[in-house]
Amino acid sequence: MIQTNGLSPSGKFDFVDILGMQRPALEHVLAVAARLKAQYRSTGRNDPMAAGKTLAMIFEKPSLRTRVSFEVAMIHLGGSAIYITPGEIGLGTRESVPDAARVLSGFCDSIMARTFAHDTVVQLARHSNRPVTNALTDRSHPCQVMADLLTIREHFGSLSGLTLAYVGDGNNVARSLMEACAVFGLKFRIAAPVGYELDHSDVQMASRVPGFDFQATTDPREAVKAADIIYTDTWVSMGQENEKAQRMKIFTPYQINAQLIAAAPAHAVVMHCLPAYRGVEITDEAMDFDRSIVFQQAENRLHFQKGLLAVQLGGQ
Ligand code: CP
Ligand code: NVA
Repeated sequence: MIQTNGLSPSGKFDFVDILGMQRPALEHVLAVAARLKAQYRSTGRNDPMAAGKTLAMIFEKPSLRTRVSFEVAMIHLGGSAIYITPGEIGLGTRESVPDAARVLSGFCDSIMARTFAHDTVVQLARHSNRPVTNALTDRSHPCQVMADLLTIREHFGSLSGLTLAYVGDGNNVARSLMEACAVFGLKFRIAAPVGYELDHSDVQMASRVPGFDFQATTDPREAVKAADIIYTDTWVSMGQENEKAQRMKIFTPYQINAQLIAAAPAHAVVMHCLPAYRGVEITDEAMDFDRSIVFQQAENRLHFQKGLLAVQLGGQ
């Protein structure tokens, strides 16, 4: 059976979710990413590890960071990327997901996909003989969160002993953060309104990782009181636009603002995966203050994904 995480029997490195991956494999990608970033920063030079290779980029939803950072990563590594517009393939309607996976693996060396249904990425990985990467689904956003770990480690020097407090919707980004905290040994706190928490079954899965320290509350101040990192995301994820009015009312007490930051330790940093709706889930003051690392976080999407592609395609 082809695994959906990490090395399959055929040797391809799929990246579908963080939980279930071997920590050393993830540490390896982070190390490659950090090395390529340092080299690029100091010399402006990239090694053409993916020369002649092509990445297919399937998007069912919009994107700024993910699309551009993957495409630039392939350019830096000497390869090319093909952007496939939302609706173009008609995954599961015009053509079955397994057939599309088989066809794309005949043309391209790697596939990344941003989809609504998580199962679409799982099926792509299962039926492609090329590596498949989850570029965000309704369930998870592992590339974002691995880039976030790179950012956190750059800021704090290490990941161990840190507490990450997520405030807001128990969504795809929150789920991947929980999984990353479980695998990498960070304490995870989440404050979400009733009805918008992470699924109990997902929390149970993450809690099987020995030593995972998890606490959930409805009170943002409680969540951030010992936090090294305060993290939030939009209250209305892509595909939830028709719930916007209701969500705006329910989530109002969960805004990251100066008052909430004051309830956290004086060294706590603010993170947001972006795009941010300024004045909604996060104020300008919180986005722009000196302990906001949101733009370093955004830039690291490029560096993490270069590391990932170097592992998938460049023999690293
Ligand atoms: N954070 C993130 O994935 O941004 P995009 O939706 O712009 O790709
Ligand atoms: N939770 C957000 C993340 C965007 C990068 C969404 O899915 O729209």
